[in-house]
Amino acid sequence: MSLFLSAPLSSALRRCTPALRRATGGLAAAPCQAVPSRTFIDVKRLLGESGPEPPSAGQLLAEYRSMTAEDAARCRSPPRRCSMLARDFVDDSLYNPHYGYFSKQATIFTVEDDEGFAFNSCRDTLEFMNRIGARYAEIEGDLNDPWYGYAIAKYIATEYKLNHFPQEDLVIYEIGAGNGTLMLNVLDYLRDNEPAVYKRTQYRIIEISPKLAERQTQRHEVRDVRDAHHGRITIVNRSIFDWDQPVTESCFFIAMEVIDNFAHDVIRYNVKTGEPMQWFPLAPNLTEPEFLPTKALLLLEKLRDYFPRHRLVLSDFYTLPDAVPGVDAPVVQTRYQRTMVPCSTYLVQPGWFDIFYPTNFELLRDVYRLVCRSSRPANTTRIMGEREFLERFADVERTRTISGENPMLDYYENNKFLLS
Ligand SMILES: C[S@@+](CC[C@H](N)C(=O)[O-])C[C@H]1O[C@@H](n2cnc3c(N)ncnc32)[C@H](O)[C@@H]1O
Repeated sequence: MSLFLSAPLSSALRRCTPALRRATGGLAAAPCQAVPSRTFIDVKRLLGESGPEPPSAGQLLAEYRSMTAEDAARCRSPPRRCSMLARDFVDDSLYNPHYGYFSKQATIFTVEDDEGFAFNSCRDTLEFMNRIGARYAEIEGDLNDPWYGYAIAKYIATEYKLNHFPQEDLVIYEIGAGNGTLMLNVLDYLRDNEPAVYKRTQYRIIEISPKLAERQTQRHEVRDVRDAHHGRITIVNRSIFDWDQPVTESCFFIAMEVIDNFAHDVIRYNVKTGEPMQWFPLAPNLTEPEFLPTKALLLLEKLRDYFPRHRLVLSDFYTLPDAVPGVDAPVVQTRYQRTMVPCSTYLVQPGWFDIFYPTNFELLRDVYRLVCRSSRPANTTRIMGEREFLERFADVERTRTISGENPMLDYYENNKFLLS
């Protein structure tokens, strides 16, 4: 496996997008050693045993038992001498309860300032990024500033009042809520700006990580003492993929930077016949790999089956720097000496690497329409650039620096929304 180094922080921050922040960990590049890796196929050993002829796909498949991520979830260490679909391998690497990346790491960066980030006190975007960069040097994660949450709240309140108020309550589901910051900001905004809506609001989180679910609970208890979101919040520690209760009421369904970690399948096409192939060790004449968002498809099926009256508010990266080769390919990175180091393959030691994909929003929108909105007009589902969304719903005046720039708008430059 080869490794290449990320661009220094200075140039990354100049481009100042969430994906870059995540890709660089907010630090300058440093020299590093290769991180040990293991792929599915121990080619050297196989070549040694079976002579100079490379083993066929059939031989490999016969020798290695096939496993799914569900099978591997029972293993306490990464299984050896087995084959998996790319989707299962990545899913296991990230979510295995014993050694998965998220089982080991669950720290999310938050700007812990009740008044929000003081954009107005920054000279310009460069100073804003320097101040944020200093915080990222301490801890990796995502920026959850109140202004962003307020924009989401304003959007939801506007849509709710237009279409559901006063007949129905405002029910919000959020999956993958991280520290729970967005929830607190949305509820704060509704309480302070939309009291009639706030009275009718229920906020429910579905969070896979026990550590984060616990933190969300602790934080809302702390806030409950001081304030009154009491009785409005429910936190369910479960994967959305295990959800099995029908929610028949209308609801908003939020997913912010969650599907980027949903595993994809990999296919390559035979260049002569056009036939797609999912298992292709050492096979010649294939196109470059294409990554297909099959777990995201499972999420859409969950929405169709269990949240039939939902309105989707999904945001994520649509482009990422330093991705591995291929179409819609992921970034694979690990922390080494406080620097995030991107790799050139997703076939790496399970549990040590974050693997996250850009979302092909046009593809997702088309699949969403087919799965969840087949009986409604196409224009009820739309893609919106994050900048456009924030220009419409955020307080752009309070987030402007002294020089007149608005770092919040640049900050989310490579994110988009899917809204329904
Ligand atoms: C990158 S963090 C994003 C946190 C937050 N939404 C934000 O934008 O800052 C991804 C979150 O999704 C959660 N998550 C990942 N897979 C999930 C699943 N299948 N079901 C529920 N939550 C999930 C993680 O535990 C984490 O809280």
